[in-house]
Amino acid sequence: MNDLSAVPTAAQAIADTDAESSPSAMVMVVNHPLVQHKVTLARSEDTTTDNFRRLVREISQLLTYEATRDLAMETIAIKTPIAPMVSPVLSGKKLCLVSILRAGNGFLDGMLDLLPAARVGHIGLYRDPETLEPIEYYFKMPEDIHERMVIVVDPMLATGNSAIAALNRLKEAGVTTMKYVCLIASRPGLQALRAAHPDVAIVTAAIDEQLNEHGYIVPGLGDAGDRLYGTK
Ligand code: URA
Repeated sequence: MNDLSAVPTAAQAIADTDAESSPSAMVMVVNHPLVQHKVTLARSEDTTTDNFRRLVREISQLLTYEATRDLAMETIAIKTPIAPMVSPVLSGKKLCLVSILRAGNGFLDGMLDLLPAARVGHIGLYRDPETLEPIEYYFKMPEDIHERMVIVVDPMLATGNSAIAALNRLKEAGVTTMKYVCLIASRPGLQALRAAHPDVAIVTAAIDEQLNEHGYIVPGLGDAGDRLYGTK
């Protein structure tokens, strides 16, 4: 059991899947050992609902750390108990986390632990079982969404249809700066999302090569919503 061929190498940590289009935003596969360990546990069918939920929360925190690596900073003057100093704080656009219902909500708590001042929006999309096309049933955003940097979250980037529809909708609402964070991306979904929204950086913990005929990621982890909420 010492075969590490499935473990992403350092070279995969930041990979542009679309090397032809260098101006595009990056695809980052977070290969940190803690992330990879927790993703393996989350994938296992033996993992219980409570452990799955905890793992997704922890992974979302670790992905948030990478997704926010390039946030703008400024310095402010403060006084420590010992001496005055000039020290960095976040600046620039305020954040909004946008969850694609319902599995996206499994990411929110972990992200809000690290970004407590962020606003939260929700998009409800369901997949037509025949066409796998997304149909919107809910859209609730902060009024100033167009002024915010948006991080869209959904654990599973499968066909990419829901992600593309969500980003289309947010751009229609005036959003200009977005990232997309997921736990597992399928290769076809990643390519579709990149083609539709090359300006949106993607952060993921893993890329799986295939989808099955129902649009599930293979090997994936199953239905993330059902596993988060124990509905199956
Ligand atoms: N949604 C999921 O929850 N899992 C998949 O594999 C694909 C879409």
